[in-house]
Amino acid sequence: MTKELEALLKEKRIFDPSDDVVNNSNIKRWMNDRGINTYDELLERARDQNWFWGEMGRELEWFEPWNNVLEWNPPHAKWFIGGKFNIVHNALDRHMKTWRKNKVAYIWEGEPGDIRKITYYSLYREVNKFANALKSLGVKKGDKVSIYLPMIPELPIAMLACAKIGAIHSVVFSGFSARAFRQRVNDAGAKIAITVDGFYRRGKVIPLKESADEALKDAPSVEHLIVVRRAGNDIEMDEDRDIWWDELIEGQSVVCDTEIMDSEDMLFILYTSGTTGKPKGVVHVHGGYAVGTHATLKYVFDLKDDDRWWCAADIGWVTGHSYIVYAPLMLGATSIMYEGAPDYPKPDRIWDMVGRHGVTVFYTAPTMIRMFMKYGDKWPKRHDLSSLRLLGSVGEPINPEAWVWYYKKIGRERCPIMDTWWQTETGSFILTPLPITPLKPGSATKPFPSFEADVLNDDGEPITGRGGHLVIKTPWPAMLRTLYKDPERYVRQYWSTFPGVYLTGDVARKDEDGYFWLQGREDDVLNVAGHRIGSAEVESALVSHPKVAEAAVVGKPDPVRGEVIAALVILRSDVNPSPDLKDELRNHVGREIGPIAKPSMIGFVKDLPKTRSGKIMRRIIKAKIKGEPIGDISTLANPEAVAALDEMV
Ligand code: WT7
Repeated sequence: MTKELEALLKEKRIFDPSDDVVNNSNIKRWMNDRGINTYDELLERARDQNWFWGEMGRELEWFEPWNNVLEWNPPHAKWFIGGKFNIVHNALDRHMKTWRKNKVAYIWEGEPGDIRKITYYSLYREVNKFANALKSLGVKKGDKVSIYLPMIPELPIAMLACAKIGAIHSVVFSGFSARAFRQRVNDAGAKIAITVDGFYRRGKVIPLKESADEALKDAPSVEHLIVVRRAGNDIEMDEDRDIWWDELIEGQSVVCDTEIMDSEDMLFILYTSGTTGKPKGVVHVHGGYAVGTHATLKYVFDLKDDDRWWCAADIGWVTGHSYIVYAPLMLGATSIMYEGAPDYPKPDRIWDMVGRHGVTVFYTAPTMIRMFMKYGDKWPKRHDLSSLRLLGSVGEPINPEAWVWYYKKIGRERCPIMDTWWQTETGSFILTPLPITPLKPGSATKPFPSFEADVLNDDGEPITGRGGHLVIKTPWPAMLRTLYKDPERYVRQYWSTFPGVYLTGDVARKDEDGYFWLQGREDDVLNVAGHRIGSAEVESALVSHPKVAEAAVVGKPDPVRGEVIAALVILRSDVNPSPDLKDELRNHVGREIGPIAKPSMIGFVKDLPKTRSGKIMRRIIKAKIKGEPIGDISTLANPEAVAALDEMV
């Protein structure tokens, strides 16, 4: 650690946002209009959830107003009951009546450097055409559409077209494998799937259509596969099933009615990893999700009409759903959207883009920040980053060292950093600073106004100064409504440990000032480069290989990626360990789940530590891998397994 940083941390310095930032912020104006003077007073007043969210809800357009803001029958919440609404009316249609019609919605940049600027009006027309095209294929309100697209404009267009006509989208990250896509298509029961011929990543073409073909070999619900032309690579088209996107939209009307939805109607399903092998289908709805994401983006990242917002995530994750697609469009903002790798062709691609496009608010993940730190200061130094005024971080705890580097080298000590803690399930930020919040490097600070978060011990008692279960005690508008086709798991997973209280699955500590410090996951879910991967998913991918008998997967701390995957594997008795076999298994996991799930370390062992009920004791494996004391082993059924770990090859 540098001396400077050490001193800084010892000082326990609090970074106060400048008067300029505070006084020009959206939240300060909102407070002034209501006679609220301080941050603490704001948090106090917002405890009246009905009042606070009623105010936020009125910032959007409703076809018919709601009767009640909240109906809470734990663990089921409904928001804006009786309200008639469509998120796409707010994201697109309503801008057609204002000057924003001709404002740029997306500045899209392909990895090879091609640029498309898409105005709200042209986005509106493209969405309408594609919505009509979906209708022509028989897609109706409530039908599911699985979208397997990279970061190209057709991805938001497809999502918005679905939502416009009341269909439900399920976007699957384009880095996932054919098998992962198939599993999600089948769970959703999708009628239509959408993919691309290929896209660019690190200068190469990734032939995604091939994966889609592989996945759809066994996906009986899918009637058609729509294929976007992007890379022009050779692909095979199934005459009965496949349709080119451009041919499908040709001649479609640029006008399409927006379906009048109930505020609680389903908007999308997004699959996320859990502790078991089966991904959870997180369900979000039109009304509350719209109000929650709109309010958090407006007041946390303080977006104004002259901003250029860049959320450098992939739309395949919730970050992109909420903060590249829906919230920025509802705000009428101009967003940057980028297809490729952040360090391609050189480590300054991102800083070059910030400069060229005049980005004002930039939001990324700690793993990226650490990667850029490693490349060195010279890369950002080459660029004019003076347009930036606010920065953001999401996905995992940001270590103070990375926070300070980001603050100094990117924000040049002018830009407050919004460290936003949230999840696929929460839909919107939960713990987050506002531009008026005094910052502590490494802390996600406090709950957004009206949210009640706490840290509980195992007995459910609130604790301060020690790590415990991070929980949310009151419902919020953008919360998940259920798990698709698994309502029992919804109750069990989130609401049963402490009845009526939402269990996040994270460990956190609350300090004497009420600031939250995130410490990571408490279950067997890994956080690799800011994304959740279930250890059970990787284990089941490994044991699906014919040479593997058993596998245990744990997270291993990594200075850049946060956590990397370490796998201990027991081979079948007739198989000999070899370095080649490790590569073979790594690639196998890549094919089964996707490249992000490839174990960085594989060790062959003869035995794995287990409890009497046969559960692998990952705690022991973790301790071994980190070289830490293994602690209490009284519940271990096979103590000899600990010695077997030492003989790992
Ligand atoms: C998990 C949720 C929500 C967008 C990205 C990931 C971790 C997220 C932070 C943060 C510390 C964080 C948590 C959480 N996480 N943001 N600011 N500080 N940890 O969404 O895949 O649903 O993962 O990411 O562990 O539970 P996700």
